[in-house]
Amino acid sequence: MTQDEMKRDAAWAALQFISKDSIVGVGTGSTVDHFINALASIKDKVRGAVSSSVQSTVKLQQLGITVLDLNDITELSIYVDGADEINAQKQMIKGGGAALTREKIVAAVAKTFVCIVDSSKQVELLGRFPLPIEVIPMASSYVSRELQKLGARPILRQGVITDNGNLIIDAHNLLISDALVLEQQLNNIVGVVTNGLFARRAADIVLIGSTNGTQVIK
Ligand code: A5P
Repeated sequence: MTQDEMKRDAAWAALQFISKDSIVGVGTGSTVDHFINALASIKDKVRGAVSSSVQSTVKLQQLGITVLDLNDITELSIYVDGADEINAQKQMIKGGGAALTREKIVAAVAKTFVCIVDSSKQVELLGRFPLPIEVIPMASSYVSRELQKLGARPILRQGVITDNGNLIIDAHNLLISDALVLEQQLNNIVGVVTNGLFARRAADIVLIGSTNGTQVIK
């Protein structure tokens, strides 16, 4: 079984958590692309989707799924998204696709976060995957210097402008023993819009695709 097939299995398994007439929060990435295909197969049973990126919005609309504005709804029962790394506490690193800010916003509104990953994303300690940080462009050098003080090796992601018009710095070499504390610490650096640690809002349910099928962790 390929990695992509494991992603696809985990993504389709998420359908079991979608209730009739609900609005579905939709993340971004290659695993979520499979989930959007799955969601299209039940599109008449849901009211629509709230999207976390232009990329996902385009695919949702192409498949005939209504995309709603987050500001027009007061409740979101479920958010389905992938991750770059996930630990046993269901804390994640996200943002490999540069959509972390909108992902964090939609995840914050949702009652239940269902994370869909293949087994390669499971880690004991977060941080081998460089931590994406979205920054206001004029602050990128300052933020990089502040990250160095925290022991990171910051690298500006070349050629990437986020959906919000900002830049991404990837923070390498961070060994993240306390993700809750680091998430807060990074948020406190002026010029940081969002960092890719999802510790304060971790996942509630994790679906892990592997060669032995998809495991559900609640
Ligand atoms: C997008 O910005 C990310 O948070 C994705 O959720 C993450 O990179 C996982 O992507 P894949 O599903 O493509 O591995």
